[in-house]
Amino acid sequence: MIDGNAIVEGLETLRKGGATRDDLLREAVARIEAAEESYDWVGIYLLEGDTLVLHNYLGKETDHTRIPVGRGVCGTAVAEDRDIVVEDVHALDNYLACSLETVSEIVVLIRRPGSGEIVGQLDLDSDRRAAFGARDERELRTIADWLGARF
Ligand code: SME
Repeated sequence: MIDGNAIVEGLETLRKGGATRDDLLREAVARIEAAEESYDWVGIYLLEGDTLVLHNYLGKETDHTRIPVGRGVCGTAVAEDRDIVVEDVHALDNYLACSLETVSEIVVLIRRPGSGEIVGQLDLDSDRRAAFGARDERELRTIADWLGARF
């Protein structure tokens, strides 16, 4: 089971040791990906103007390295200012397929503390149906909030 606090503790140790924000964003992806077998693709997009730009990821190569706000699950999360959990992406019209095997997806927004301004998002895909539940969302939120404070 993913443990957001344990991942944040590990990231905090790296930060105190001098890790840069880019290092921490890469480490976050690596630690999240290693936490659950069902996490088949894990990435972080950063918001630049009205485009989500892929910062780093683990999993199959994707064409979606730049996603306009409003497009796909990722862009919709920003446009609607909310996290999104999708049990089965086949049921969606506005979906950008990263891999044909993907079935479920979760997007958790990364926000600056205080203002709540969206600076990016955690995006996870799974080849299993409904792989992401309330627990995953909560633990990922812990990590996203810690990352948001680095902006
Ligand atoms: N599925 C996402 C696109 C990102 S790739 O899956 C990595 C979407 O619909 O926005």
